[in-house]
Formats: sequence, C-alpha cells, structure tokens
Amino acid sequence: MVGADLVVLNAGQLLTVSGQSRPRAGRAMRDLGIIEDGYFASLEGVIVDAGPQREFERRVEPLPGATVIDAKGGVVSPGFVDPHTHLVFAGWRAGEFAMRIEGRTYLEIHKAGGGINSTVESTRASDEPTLLSRALERLDECLKWGTTTVEVKSGYGLDTGNELKCLRVVSKAAQVHPAGVVGTFMGLHAVPPEFAGNADGYVDLIVNEMLPAVQQQGVARFADVFCEKGVFTPGQSRRVLVEAGRRGMRAKVHADELAPSGGAELAAEVGAISAEHLMMASDRGLEAMRGAGCVAVLLPGTPFFLGGHAYAPARRMIDMGLPVALGTDFNPGSCTLQVMPVAMTIACTQMRMTPEECFTAATVNAACATGIGDRVGRIERGMAADAVVFDAGDYREIPYRFAANLATCVIKSGRVVARDGVPCWSADGRA
Ligand code: NIG
Ligand code: FE
Repeated sequence: MVGADLVVLNAGQLLTVSGQSRPRAGRAMRDLGIIEDGYFASLEGVIVDAGPQREFERRVEPLPGATVIDAKGGVVSPGFVDPHTHLVFAGWRAGEFAMRIEGRTYLEIHKAGGGINSTVESTRASDEPTLLSRALERLDECLKWGTTTVEVKSGYGLDTGNELKCLRVVSKAAQVHPAGVVGTFMGLHAVPPEFAGNADGYVDLIVNEMLPAVQQQGVARFADVFCEKGVFTPGQSRRVLVEAGRRGMRAKVHADELAPSGGAELAAEVGAISAEHLMMASDRGLEAMRGAGCVAVLLPGTPFFLGGHAYAPARRMIDMGLPVALGTDFNPGSCTLQVMPVAMTIACTQMRMTPEECFTAATVNAACATGIGDRVGRIERGMAADAVVFDAGDYREIPYRFAANLATCVIKSGRVVARDGVPCWSADGRA
C-alpha cells in the first residue's frame, strides 16, 4: 500500500511510455506501454504507482484531502515536453509572413536585415518585466494544450546585456510558472547589426564575454547555434559549442534547416544532446548522429509555416534507428505554433510518423533531448507527476482531431494547473 496526495482514475488508455530513460529508436518508438483502464498515483509531485484500475484499492491509499481526478474512460498521457522554443521575444512579424506568401524567402528577408534582427530590435527595446509577463502568458498557452515542460532559447538579445536579460526572464519564468522551463543560450542566432560583415568578431564576443557571463550567472543549461549556409559556418558554430562545453553547457544545434550545412555532422562531432530541424541533413550527418547518440528534434510546424520547404526525413531517421523527438519551434519568424498536438498532426500527415511514434517523440524522447529523461516524460514510479487527461477514447484522436483542444486536465508535479483549456494555478502554489 502506498499513500498518495493525487490519484488519476479510470483512464481508458493510460499511456505510460514506461521502461527506459534512454531515447527510443526504431520499432520501440511504437510502444506506448498502454494500460487499458488504468490509474496512476503520486505523492509530493512524484509518481508512486501506476497500474490497472482493478488493483487500485489494494495498492493505493489516498491521503486525507488527496486530489482525485476521474478520467472517465479518457486517454491519459505524460505531459508533453516541448524541446525547442524561442519563447522570449517582443513583437510579431506578420509583415514577413505576407512577404513570403508573395514569394520572398526566409533567408532573403533575413539577409535584408529583417527576420531575426527585427525581433532583436524590439526585444532590446523591451524591459525585463514586460518580457517576463509575455513569457508567462505564452507558457500558459503551452500548458493549456498539455505541454508541461518547455525548453526556451535566448537569441534575440545578441549582446551581453540583452542576452543576459532574456536568460534572466527564462530563469524567473522557471521560478514563477508551474511548467518546467529549461534555458538554452543561443547567442549565435544571427549577426547583430553592430557586427554586420564581421561574423567572426561577433563569435569572439560570444566566446570571450557572453559565455563566461552566462556561466557565471548559471542561467542556461545548453548552448545552441544557428549553423546554416548564409548564417554561421560549422567552424564558427564549433568555436562557440566547444567553449560552451568547457563552461558546462551541453551543445544543441540548429542544423540543416534550410540547406545542407554540415550541422548534423557538427552535432555528432561535439557530442550534442540533439540536432534540431534537419530538413536538409545529409545521410552521412544522420549516420554520425546515430553513432554519437544524438537525438533528432524535428519541428514540422516550421516547413508548414514557411511554405515551400521540405520536411525532415522522419521515416528514414526512424527506420535507421535514430531517435526522433518532436517540438514546436515557437518563434515570431519561422513558426508561430505553440501546440504540441498540432505538431503531431503535421508529423503524421507530412512526415508519415505514426500516432504512436508521435507520442513517444513528444514525451520521453523530447525529455531526453532536454536532458531530463530520467525524471520527466513517462508515467512510471519515480517520475514527475506530469500528465494530461484527454476527452478522447483513443489516443489517435489527439493528432487526428487537429487543433481541437481535448485536454480536460493538465497536471504538473502532482498539481492540477489547467482545466478545460484554462490555466488554474497561482504563483503561491495553490492550484
Ligand atoms: O528555428 N533558425 C533559427 N531560429 C528560428 C527562427 C527565428 C526567427 O526567425 O526569429 C528557427 O527557425
Ligand atoms: Fe528554432
């Protein structure tokens, strides 16, 4: 018998995705560890038991005042982990969206000083409290669709003061908001205007000034770079990632998003935890990633939103045994999507990932790509009690009924944080 302060009962399908804290590859991505008519129980935010409903009474003792959630035959899955967002920024770029529809490309707009640098201008002009309140609103939007952990990259400050400002916003959001928030330093996102024509000078600034400051303030767990033809070379990216590694930040790479650029190869070489996007990655790069144990984070909302772009070869990756995770890439330029189930829908229809593979990719594999696979992403004893109750009898309805929010109850660390699409948490811890 175990005591519990939260129990979720009568899950028609309890997707445990249990078994290993390593990322899943190949056929294993299809195994969701489903318990038909199941329950799980947690104590102080940690799962203490999960099993078939008929065993509940002899295994679990709800403590006085325990929260009891009746899933009423619905699907219960681990909370989604979004392993790739650029959520701290000011201003939108609807004008560029319209320009792309008229035929301009993302890189043309970027090179003409629009794109990332237009967001840099508005983010630099924005103060910390304003950026924080926007970040909290955006995290709420993630939460109500079932995302309970979010990786957040900096990269719209591009000077030491402004990068630190954005990373402080990430850290404060992590303290205030119930979602798990993992910070990534992405100073190598674009060449800022004051370094126009001198990308190497900007790399020097990152290596000599920004990385030491980020390390000193302890505001980022990872470092990411935009390794892309026309943006930063593998050589420039390598310099930043190697120095970041020396300073305790593990590498992530925006790799081969728009053109084959050597990003996947670089990710493997520097021992990155993940390479992300990979729409144009070479077979050699993918092989190298597999050998290096690097997770492929795929962001199908981006080619969908940019239009006219190829999708990452997810089928080939899965069939060759490369673990695949899914994320949104939420940002004001290349993808404004925040909703993991919609990323799953696009992954199904455009990349031919199965619904089972999508759930694995959006839970355990995304957690592994974020460095938290040992505590998040599965419904299993010892894991954080992060879960979503859906008003659906079959888990395949979640990608299938696209853009319908079927999440009726979102639980983070054993606390109900959203109900029927409405966040219901308060900063003092009372749900
Ligand atoms: O992942 N590629 C670089 N970063 C983002 C886009 C950022 C922006 O356009 O503001 C991405 O696509
Ligand atoms: Fe991105």
